[in-house]
Parts: sequence; structure tokens; C-alpha cells
Amino acid sequence: MDSFEFNKIAAAVLITALLLIGIKEIGNSIFKTEKLEKSAYKVEGLEKTTKSEIGEPKKIELTLKPIAPLLATANIDEGKKIFKKCAACHSIEQGGKNKIGPALWSVVDRKVGSVEGFKYSNALKNYNKNWTHEELNGFLHKPLKYIKGTKMAFAGLRKDSDRANIIAYLNSMGSNPKPLK
Ligand code: HEC
Repeated sequence: MDSFEFNKIAAAVLITALLLIGIKEIGNSIFKTEKLEKSAYKVEGLEKTTKSEIGEPKKIELTLKPIAPLLATANIDEGKKIFKKCAACHSIEQGGKNKIGPALWSVVDRKVGSVEGFKYSNALKNYNKNWTHEELNGFLHKPLKYIKGTKMAFAGLRKDSDRANIIAYLNSMGSNPKPLK
């Protein structure tokens, strides 16, 4: 092979290599811009769904609004209707017996887990607080999450107005109802 032949081959190899690199670079840059444009567009949409579908429920859970302002306009009769959901497990009238759950007469401001003769879970026994309106609000929203280890197998009342109405009803079913306004 003379040097001219060799140079031709070398040049061909070099040009091919440059071409390949060039094509790859061009390809990359086209691909990159396409990808960028696409994901920039997607992220906008994603942000919207994340906020409403994943972000917000969490926020609500962490910051359950105080129930006090809603109690002022709560409806005791509506609360009595909602209590049908509780009545399978709880009595509410004065002198009522324990059922699957403890008797609930005068439960507002009573110490948590303090009905004589009812076998509470350790979670409730050791909770060491009173059933204020706000404690009832948290517990009745999601019993199993609010006091981990409770044996009250009830999913909870998601609607703020349902909880306000039932707390107003529980409040009225006691020897010393507290003013709600
Ligand atoms: C499936 C049965 C069941 C249903 C339905 C149910 N509960 Fe309970 N509840 C229980 C049990 C069992 C306990 C005792 C929990 C423990 O010891 O951990 C309890 C405990 C309670 C307590 C604590 C009482 C105390 O003495 O400390 C309150 C308040 C209460 N329930 C209110 C309600 C209300 C209001 C409803 C309806 C919205 C309801 N429960 C629905 C079974 C139930």
C-alpha cells in the first residue's frame, strides 16, 4: 500500500467517524429539544393533578379545621339522624347500657375510656384526655387514624357538617350540655 492509498483510507475512516459523530450530535440535539418541550408541557398538567389529587387530601388530614365555628349553626335533629350509624354499637339515652361500644350518655367532656365495666382498648385507656368537642371532631373524622389502636371499627364521618351535627347531638344528650355559641 503506498502512502497515497493509505491517506485515502485514513481520510475515509476519519470522515466516516466525523459523520457518525455529527449525526449523533444532531440527533441528540433534536431529541433533546423534543424531549424538553414534551416534558415541560407535561409538567404543567402534572402539577395540576398533583395538587388536587395527591396534595390536597393530605393537607386536609393534617389541618382538620376546628369544629367550634360550625357548631354554632349545627343541627341537633340532623345529628340524631346521623347517630343511626352509631346506634348498632352505642346507646345514647340516660342509663343506657354498654353495647359493642361504651354507653355515650354525657360523653362530652367525660374522660376518654372511663365508662365503668367497658373493656376499652389500651389506646383509649391510656389516652388521658377528655372528650372535648375538638377531640370528638378528630376522632369521629377518622377513628382508626386519630387514636391508633382503637377498637372502634368505624370508618369515620368525612363531612365537616356531619361531624358538627353529631357533636351537637352528643352534646345535647348529657346531664350538662355546653353552650355551642
Ligand atoms: C362497629 C361498632 C361501632 C360503631 C358503628 C361506632 N362505634 Fe364508637 N366505639 C366502638 C367501640 C368498640 C369503642 C371502644 C373503642 C376502644 O376501646 O378502643 C367506641 C368508642 C367510642 C367513643 C369513646 C367513648 C369513651 O367512653 O371514651 C366515642 C365518643 C364513640 N365511640 C362515638 C361514636 C359515634 C359518635 C359513632 C357514630 C358516628 C360511633 N362511635 C360508631 C364501636 C363503634
